[in-house]
Amino acid sequence: METVMKFDCLGVDWNIVSQTLRQVGMACYEPDLHRRAFENSLVTVFIYHGDQMIGFGRAISDGAYQAAIYDVAVVPELHGQGIGTTIIRNILTRLPQCNFILYAAPGKEDFYKKLGLRKMKTGMAFFRKADEMAKKGFTE
Ligand SMILES: CC(C)(COP(=O)(O)OP(=O)(O)OC[C@H]1O[C@@H](n2cnc3c(N)ncnc32)[C@H](O)[C@@H]1OP(=O)(O)O)[C@@H](O)C(=O)NCCC(=O)NCCS
Repeated sequence: METVMKFDCLGVDWNIVSQTLRQVGMACYEPDLHRRAFENSLVTVFIYHGDQMIGFGRAISDGAYQAAIYDVAVVPELHGQGIGTTIIRNILTRLPQCNFILYAAPGKEDFYKKLGLRKMKTGMAFFRKADEMAKKGFTE
């Protein structure tokens, strides 16, 4: 079956986005909140296998020189097949003038290192759920 990439939000089933994020243990919300987040992002990437969505990611950006990557996920049964790499490469390529930042889920740093990203030394975050994020290993 053919794998297809889409770069807009038309026809996206936001239930699947929410469900996939939950399945892989990432922050997930009501489908409509994900719709807002993706529609308000400058770059979105969705990967389909036939009509099944198998992965996605997005970047918010000023469109000039700064961008941040969020919500990168691949359905669990297809991990390790290069789909995550395709998502990140496409995001980076679509904003060639931008610097990118992201915070990796703890344990996923090597995935990003293989794509040429480097660990930040001075990254700071203001999380609304600060204690929860510290417990999950995101902050000191
Ligand atoms: C992280 C994730 C997006 C990677 O996607 P993927 O399609 O499985 O990754 P790829 O097949 O493109 O892997 C590319 C390389 O990264 C490596 N890699 C993938 N996941 C890794 C991990 N968790 N830790 C270390 N290396 C990893 C692969 O082994 C591969 O290395 P190789 O090129 O030497 O073979 C995917 O596993 C996922 O959805 N995980 C759950 C959600 C998540 O953690 N998202 C990231 C939030 S920051």
